[in-house]
Amino acid sequence: MFQSALDKMLFLTHSTMLNSLLKTKIAGTPTPFYYYDLDFLQETLQSALKISTKYGYFLHYAFKANADDRVLFIIKEAGIGADCVSGNEVLKALKTGFLPEEIFYAGVGKTDKEIILGLEGKIAFFNCESLQEITVINEIAGKMGLKAKIALRINPNVESHTHSYITTGIQENKFGIQMWELEKVFSIASELKNINLDGLHFHIGSQITDLEVFANLSHKVNEINDWFINSGFKASILNLGGGLGVDYNNPDVFPIPDFENYFRMINSHLKPHPGQDIHFELGRSLVAQMGSLVTRVLYTKMGKSKNFVVTDAGMTELIRPALYSSFHKIENLSRSQPGVASENEDIRKYDVVGPVCETSDFFAKGIDLPLTERGDILAIRSAGAYAQSMSLDYNLRDKAEVIYSDDLA
Ligand code: LLP
Repeated sequence: MFQSALDKMLFLTHSTMLNSLLKTKIAGTPTPFYYYDLDFLQETLQSALKISTKYGYFLHYAFKANADDRVLFIIKEAGIGADCVSGNEVLKALKTGFLPEEIFYAGVGKTDKEIILGLEGKIAFFNCESLQEITVINEIAGKMGLKAKIALRINPNVESHTHSYITTGIQENKFGIQMWELEKVFSIASELKNINLDGLHFHIGSQITDLEVFANLSHKVNEINDWFINSGFKASILNLGGGLGVDYNNPDVFPIPDFENYFRMINSHLKPHPGQDIHFELGRSLVAQMGSLVTRVLYTKMGKSKNFVVTDAGMTELIRPALYSSFHKIENLSRSQPGVASENEDIRKYDVVGPVCETSDFFAKGIDLPLTERGDILAIRSAGAYAQSMSLDYNLRDKAEVIYSDDLA
């Protein structure tokens, strides 16, 4: 549908796309839109798979990062499993063709309806976050004449040094079974007739950039795993969750996350027992850098002490800055080549804000951009993860479309 405005563009990589998205070429194209570079997605997946396979690890993809149909299909075709956190994600995984035995289902508040759906779908694991949840699953499975395979999601109390809103593995977080509850949960769960306890699950946070955190997690997993072994239970899988961060500041410098050091770090610290498989649930690191949110400048405004650029995208398309004060690199595609300041360029300081009726509706504050005018096209980078999937229709705004790199080839 965007062909007429964009058909002459040659898209090779995400960066060349950004260099090519000149104002004239997208004149008439409805904005805002998400641009997904599917070749770059493939490259990222292949990199993660190549390195993880070396260690015999199994990968799942956390749907919550981006559940776009084409993205999911490519991930499924690459041979990666699914990590879901709602009944609808489980349904979508099945519909996309993920095998039930590759689907994990986590979440601190699974409803009865969602549990039934997971059981009917014969998914591999319910990652259970409390004793109460385990007893409910046991009861429902019993009524359905089924046995539910579960993993205990354990809160290991490991600091992840990330934003407090996306820290999930310390004692004050709502997630997982606390360490002091393990003995009780284990003794009760192992007696339940309709439960097959077979895994241990951990996920301590997201956008983790300090790899030492994963060494700390591995040590804690070793301790917990050894305790279970000594108590007579050998989990067949250890699931270390996701969390590997990406470089939002320099999306073109190391666009593929450091899977090499991430998996190496875990491999050198984690001590599984023979026969235990190691699984991961990566979200952001697989999809963030394939995407940009492309938006048009509607207006520019001079405030008392600052200049505003008002775009046609808002927090409704990318809520991360409003919610976590996150940084996303912004490029004015209509001016200089991204990342290359031309001589004599008139650089100004701007707050880049959306049209939504909230002061929190901003993308960046006090950033340098070339002199920006109405009609300019901006690319908000690293928007492949937690952008479209967290979009809202607040203010009854239209849903932003997706343009894929191969739409434009
Ligand atoms: N597994 C579980 C159980 C999770 O809760 C999450 C993310 C993941 C795996 C994947 O984590 P990742 O590899 O993507 O870091 N909206 C926030 C991120 C929330 C992450 C929630 N859980 C953001 O935009 O930064």
